[in-house]
Amino acid sequence: MPIFINEEKKQFHLQGKNTSYIFRIMENGQPGHLYFGKKVAHRADFSYLFQLPNEPLGNATFTYEGDQHFSLEFLKQEYPVYGTGDFREPAIQVSQPDGSRVTLFKYDSFQLVKGKPALDGLPAVYTESDDEAETLEIKLVDQKLKAELTLSYTVFHERNVILRNAKLKNNGTEELKINRMLSMSVDFPDADYDLVHLSGAWIRERNIESNRLHKGIQQIDSKRGTSSSQNNPFLALKAVNADEHTGDVYGFNLVYSGNFTAGVQVDHYDTSRVFMGINPFDFSWKLEPGEAFQTPEAVMVYSDAGLNGMSHSFHDLYQNRLVRGVWRDKERPVLINNWEATYFDFNEEKILSISDEANRLGVELFVLDDGWFEGRNNDTTSLGDWTPDLNKLPNGIEGLSEKVSRNGMKFGIWVEPEMISKKSALYENHPEWVLGVQDRHLSHGRNQFILDLTRQDVRDYLFDSLSKVFSSGPIAYVKWDMNRVMTEIGSAQLPPERQEETAHRYILGLYELLERLVSAFPDILFESCASGGNRFDPGMLFYMPQTWTSDNTDAIERLKIQYGTSLVYPLSTMGAHVSSVPNHQTGRTTPLETRFNTALFGMFGYELDVTKMTDAEKEEMKKQIVFYKENRSLIQKGDFYRLLSPFEGNDTSWAVVAKDQSEALIAYYRILAKPNPGLKRVKVFGLDPATLYRFNETGLEMTGEELNNIGLLLPPFYNGTVHTPQTFLAGDFRSVVWKLEAVK
Ligand code: DGJ
Repeated sequence: MPIFINEEKKQFHLQGKNTSYIFRIMENGQPGHLYFGKKVAHRADFSYLFQLPNEPLGNATFTYEGDQHFSLEFLKQEYPVYGTGDFREPAIQVSQPDGSRVTLFKYDSFQLVKGKPALDGLPAVYTESDDEAETLEIKLVDQKLKAELTLSYTVFHERNVILRNAKLKNNGTEELKINRMLSMSVDFPDADYDLVHLSGAWIRERNIESNRLHKGIQQIDSKRGTSSSQNNPFLALKAVNADEHTGDVYGFNLVYSGNFTAGVQVDHYDTSRVFMGINPFDFSWKLEPGEAFQTPEAVMVYSDAGLNGMSHSFHDLYQNRLVRGVWRDKERPVLINNWEATYFDFNEEKILSISDEANRLGVELFVLDDGWFEGRNNDTTSLGDWTPDLNKLPNGIEGLSEKVSRNGMKFGIWVEPEMISKKSALYENHPEWVLGVQDRHLSHGRNQFILDLTRQDVRDYLFDSLSKVFSSGPIAYVKWDMNRVMTEIGSAQLPPERQEETAHRYILGLYELLERLVSAFPDILFESCASGGNRFDPGMLFYMPQTWTSDNTDAIERLKIQYGTSLVYPLSTMGAHVSSVPNHQTGRTTPLETRFNTALFGMFGYELDVTKMTDAEKEEMKKQIVFYKENRSLIQKGDFYRLLSPFEGNDTSWAVVAKDQSEALIAYYRILAKPNPGLKRVKVFGLDPATLYRFNETGLEMTGEELNNIGLLLPPFYNGTVHTPQTFLAGDFRSVVWKLEAVK
């Protein structure tokens, strides 16, 4: 039984595989937090965890007259409100008809639900059977407002995750205005943590930031209309003595693709409040009588096995209970994309030459990127008009896709549906479909504007025109791009008092459109993209199983990007391609081997003009593809372990270990060659201690225990040859991947 309830004392204990989450209803009727962390045995009564100050608090405010102890400023809470004595970041604020913003949501009842209810119109983790998880819904009521606030908590028996969301229903007769409504808030009794999060920019996404918590509010957010490459909707509290493999780590991730806030407030008692949800900045929501507002879902993970332990919980959950559809478990194809090969400059002949040659070398899917539709010879034009350019492709998409497919190659296509160019028939016919504030100058991004997806007519147009494209040939894959962020946010169709709903309504509109399309085309493999990783979040993964990780294809930069991304997202969600050198983003020249060794740890492909490769390179590519195919199931479904961090030194190492620990891939990358470098060791985690493993390439045999404790000593001993530090991986940007298998 994962949820224990003491009805009399109003205490709730959610127990996952190795996690406990305990809260109670406080004297004032509000939910108060007691504990989140490593599993503890259930006790019938957790009253001993209630904390009130021994001494009356000076300069504080108190709930009850005559009492100088019950102070909301002091108490740990579950879903705090502002205005009644808690001065930390609130979870909710509602403006009322009388102008007041004070609320008191008091406990009314609870309900236990088997499994996990879906969230209306929003992506969310799901269950496949009701026995996997249980959901506790706590109903709170504000009598004056006649509003009902439901806090939902889901716990999986076999996972270390707690999922939270909140829903507010207006049961009164007057309208309410939500100014702020977060998905979760949790109070920790201490502040001895590093705050870890993923920060970056275009072509530098999800680099790891880690800073010691200190007093005040440390917050990340997005105001860009996408979850953004600047800040991923993720943060973790890592106990100061924890590392990749050991110690307490708490991870938080929002299943949402738009503006968000996430932060930690350390107060004057050195307690830490973690909060996460839709960004309250430039947001409000009018709630009419009878209506309800649903927040996105927050995923909370506890790990006592360091950051890798946290990542494994996220990875397993997302891989199996967030990603949906036939491609969730199916092996993903090796693809070739023509973007970096041709940009906008191609015709049918060129495309077929790339596709046929790639097919000969073992590639399984050709992806036609930007530039295939009428007039699209550069990025100033044509978005919105999804009709093929017959000058470039005289036989249209239908003819091209059939030709590409004639030797068994699959065909995929790029689209950027959320956008509109001013130079387009769509803009001529529907200038009012552009997202923006009326009668104001509109900023552009990449010469383009955003379609107002809050509008049903826009969504219907997109559904129809995309359905036509997706049915115009044997289309097996779609890359869904989105290349600018929002400015001058407003919608022509919304009344003035609802303008602050625009950004969230846009995301709800996007989700509705995606749901319709993925349901109508269940066999297509969708990959989402937003100038690379500008919208790499769990919300998008609910509709599209993989995301183009970054527009940066440089193998060395990718080490950081993929390492950082792996904190939360599994390899099965990360698009990773080998491109040509000098690299188009950094100008760096790296060996083909290293480009492969990096892209190997992702959903793999090439993004170069294969017809320009030398015969020797083609031979190498052929072997790479064979190796990837042999190992793709391991890469897609195994456990990923980060071993050496590119953020901390000149080396990077990581490994993928099969779930049954029968095989693994270990990769080691050395960025710059160093004179007289000495020896190095990499401790390998995740293998079975008692099993003897054999390195395929070298014949070296070591047990899992040895590999973990003694470590892999570099340079390695190669079957009879001992390398010196000078000869092992000589030169810059070198790397090696070892395959090891259990000795039977
Ligand atoms: C941005 C994407 O990230 C690239 O891969 C490519 O598809 C371009 N857009 C095309 O415009």
